[in-house]
Amino acid sequence: MANQFFARKPLAMLLEEMKGENRLRRVLGPVQLSALGVGAIIGAGIFVATGEAARNIAGPALMLSYVVAGITCIFAALCYAEFASMVPVAGSAYTYAYATLGELFAWIIGWDLVLEYAVGSATVANGWSGYFQSVLAKAGLEWPTYLREAPIKYDAATGEFISTGSFVNLTAILITLVVTIVLVKGISESATFNAAMVGIKVSAVLFVIGVGAFYVNPANWKPFAPYGWTGLSFFGHHVAGQADAGGTPLGMLAGAAIIFFAYIGFDSVSTHTEEAKNPQRDVPIGIVASLLICTVLYIAVVAVLTGMVPYQQIDAAAGVSDAFKQNGLGVAEVIIAIAGVAGITSVLLVMMLSGPRVFLAMARDGLVPKGFFGDVHPKFRTPWRSTILIGVFVCLMTGFLPLGFLLHLTNIGTLFAFVVVCAAVLIMRKKHPEAERPFRCPWVPVVPILGIACCLMLMFSLPADNWLRLAVWLGIGLVIYFLYGRHHSVMARLEAAGDKSKK
Ligand code: ALA
Repeated sequence: MANQFFARKPLAMLLEEMKGENRLRRVLGPVQLSALGVGAIIGAGIFVATGEAARNIAGPALMLSYVVAGITCIFAALCYAEFASMVPVAGSAYTYAYATLGELFAWIIGWDLVLEYAVGSATVANGWSGYFQSVLAKAGLEWPTYLREAPIKYDAATGEFISTGSFVNLTAILITLVVTIVLVKGISESATFNAAMVGIKVSAVLFVIGVGAFYVNPANWKPFAPYGWTGLSFFGHHVAGQADAGGTPLGMLAGAAIIFFAYIGFDSVSTHTEEAKNPQRDVPIGIVASLLICTVLYIAVVAVLTGMVPYQQIDAAAGVSDAFKQNGLGVAEVIIAIAGVAGITSVLLVMMLSGPRVFLAMARDGLVPKGFFGDVHPKFRTPWRSTILIGVFVCLMTGFLPLGFLLHLTNIGTLFAFVVVCAAVLIMRKKHPEAERPFRCPWVPVVPILGIACCLMLMFSLPADNWLRLAVWLGIGLVIYFLYGRHHSVMARLEAAGDKSKK
């Protein structure tokens, strides 16, 4: 039994599986993959979370928070790129873990990725709803109070959850439903839709930087780090820097842990490996290029934002567009808000595209029911059943849970996945130094070790309850594995058959 937990899926077998009929279409080239990456990255993080983080967590030092989070992601991205080039099949970190760390770890990471993508989608849909409602308000349309947001939200002053007076976040649910339908119809259509959205939001970001730069007042950058440079806790025990009434860490590092969300998404490029025309070359390009482009844009946007408005006056819900309003640029505000809605839509699209593909990979290995999660639609060639299931799950979360809760949970889940990917690169280099690596992560073991260290540091800078939530989710996953996956695992059956034939 212990052997099964550590059973690794041979690389040759992974590659062989790519030759069957039940395949996704290979339609994506390097530009489309990079666009999917940028589409997945720039969204609610920069348009929504930045305002709250600059105002209440890091001040102008949020610029450096973006640098720290960006560097962390670059370490992880280089590790992802090495794996994506070695194991060019769907499933991302899940598949890499199966090839290196064994079945139990693969399960844990697959389950964790589903959490990342599903809760991440719920977070993005929530951010979308906030921006959309602000656009409606500018057009003079009032959305009913009881349909505006989740029924509860976190109050930093008391450290408790309080009632919002609303019943459900209806616009968040509606956009989730629309995106689910688009995704069931097909990846190619989705990629085209995505390319249009990406064009709009990159233009909006460049507009913010180009126009906003003329309104920067360097005096607004002082004090640069009003909440300090750190903000670390260790399972709820405050270790360094300031904290709010609820014990949530504050400061530059704490800001990095929050806006880390803005970088999530580059990893989803690797979940499209199976749909890439030339995966070994194009997926690493897509991952690294999209991340670098976004890092540069983000730092510029935050420099402009914190330069345009004193940090205490930045709007927590729609910081970027509101900064233009405060500088008397009403038309620019409307343009940015509309582009923000388009931009966040494309993130939602890519995020919701990724979860079903992780399930697809797990279903092929027998770890989740194949008839359901492995069913590729005969006409659309998409994993339609799990797309709908995840769509329903996202609707429930985004309709009823507050933004901060969803955001923190997404971050800790993703950081955990990154730790595993960095560790897996180290293990794979040791165990299979001979394996072909069309893309090699530079400076191994330094880069993966730094990746692990940075991710853990950011995990500790998040409010401590998130560790508990992550543990509960992983616990549920383990129960499912022991009740289902372990008994249906294809690898376990193959190994058992091999053992019998030896006897
Ligand atoms: N990086 C994505 C966003 O900011 C998840 O919306």
